[in-house]
Amino acid sequence: MSKLRPHPYMLKCFEGAGQGHVFDRFDSLEPKRQAAFLAQLDALHLSELAELISLLDAPAGVKGEIAPLDPLVPSASEREAFAQAGWEALEAGRVAVFVVAGGQGTRLGWPGPKGTYPVGPLTQKTLFQLFAEQVLAIGERAGRALDLYVLTSELNRGETEAFFEEHARFGLKEDQLHYLVQANLPNVTLEGRLCLSGPGELATSPNGHGGALLALRDGGALRRMAERGQDLLFYWQVDNPLCAIADPVLIGAHLGAGAEGSTKIVEKTDPEERVGLVALRDGKPGVVEYSEMTPEQQRERAPSGGLAYRAGNIAVHLFGREFLERVSAPTFELGYHLARKKVAILNAGGALEEPSEPNVVKFERFVFDVLPHAKNHVTLQVERAEEFEPLKNAEGSYSPATVKAAISARAQAWIERAGYTVPRGPSGDPVLCEVSPLTALDPAQLRERLGDQLPEPGAEGLSL
Ligand code: UD1
Repeated sequence: MSKLRPHPYMLKCFEGAGQGHVFDRFDSLEPKRQAAFLAQLDALHLSELAELISLLDAPAGVKGEIAPLDPLVPSASEREAFAQAGWEALEAGRVAVFVVAGGQGTRLGWPGPKGTYPVGPLTQKTLFQLFAEQVLAIGERAGRALDLYVLTSELNRGETEAFFEEHARFGLKEDQLHYLVQANLPNVTLEGRLCLSGPGELATSPNGHGGALLALRDGGALRRMAERGQDLLFYWQVDNPLCAIADPVLIGAHLGAGAEGSTKIVEKTDPEERVGLVALRDGKPGVVEYSEMTPEQQRERAPSGGLAYRAGNIAVHLFGREFLERVSAPTFELGYHLARKKVAILNAGGALEEPSEPNVVKFERFVFDVLPHAKNHVTLQVERAEEFEPLKNAEGSYSPATVKAAISARAQAWIERAGYTVPRGPSGDPVLCEVSPLTALDPAQLRERLGDQLPEPGAEGLSL
């Protein structure tokens, strides 16, 4: 293959956009790299890039008027009624489920996709396995298999797919598991110039979980859902092993309210906790990131004494399919969020340089920005210990240690609620516990499956 040259029109367009520097040292690239680089540049929409760069000058800060919102805290009888309606929807095959797993997971420092992280305290089951088993168990209980969609990015699609396939999809059928790929967006320097992560390689990053919307549309998921008579999509993040997938209570509450989008929250009690908040923005429910709140707002108290902004977003949603069709249409403007990050890029001399300060801007879309556009929205409060302990950091809060402890603590609580006593180890402490989703999805099912006798624990703990 001989050396290539960029088409003069392409050169002119990039120069016109103030990005002609990307062709510096183009001649020194191997022909194969030249071809790949030209393809990468060709796929770039310069008008979209100009729009992104114009955002660098937009004033930072909170958009709109923020006010606290009262979540729905259902009584026991309301929960029961919601659950019944939810199971009816599941039995009628109206629900598909969707996990977003396209993020880079840089804070955790795990080399593979986050879903391949082993979190089972006794079994070392991975996040993906725990989710797949839950999807199987719900399908079995509803008598209707659920379709699982997994959002990946260009960076982790191959590894994610290979992982599921190597493990025979953890029992999911081939036509039940669907991979979607979100697009990448270019990174730019703080001055708005495209930059290279290597010779002939634009620095890019996934376009945020808001990229899920286009991926759902372009990847054929919304069409397939329509063909299969599914009008509800349950959404969650790959980092939360306690997520109650396709929760019938959320489904029932959503349907009862005639909602197009719904969100689960847990009560935020620590003003410093870095979770987003479900709140009103200009009178409409949506998610406000902790970085958007002033320290005074974060600490503000309600008359009850709790935090005024206490609806901690656990990033679990239910969406109507028709709503998703509307907000994924090319004419719908979702907007972008900017994040300044430290990324190694080529310097003017062509050498890779590790920055000590944030040096590039990443552009992301957030899925929850569609919520204010939903006709009705339910904000359902759930128990943190039952449903939320995400894996985000290598150490400290939201780390493997806290996640494993939370999985065991929930299993112990289920064992007690099922009417057993958690066995104690030689130290006198309750033993580590884990309940497989294939054994039970809740304490009542645990009792039903195990009968009167709780099995003896092993040396490591009690794995049910
Ligand atoms: C997120 C929420 C926050 C919420 C918290 C709960 C955002 C901006 N904030 O914070 O409101 O309280 O979760 O745990 O989302 N992802 C993709 N593609 C991308 C980027 C992310 O699929 O391009 C996925 C990740 O794989 C992950 C999820 O989105 O499953 C969350 O992303 P992350 O950036 O870790 O969000 P947080 O800052 O933790």
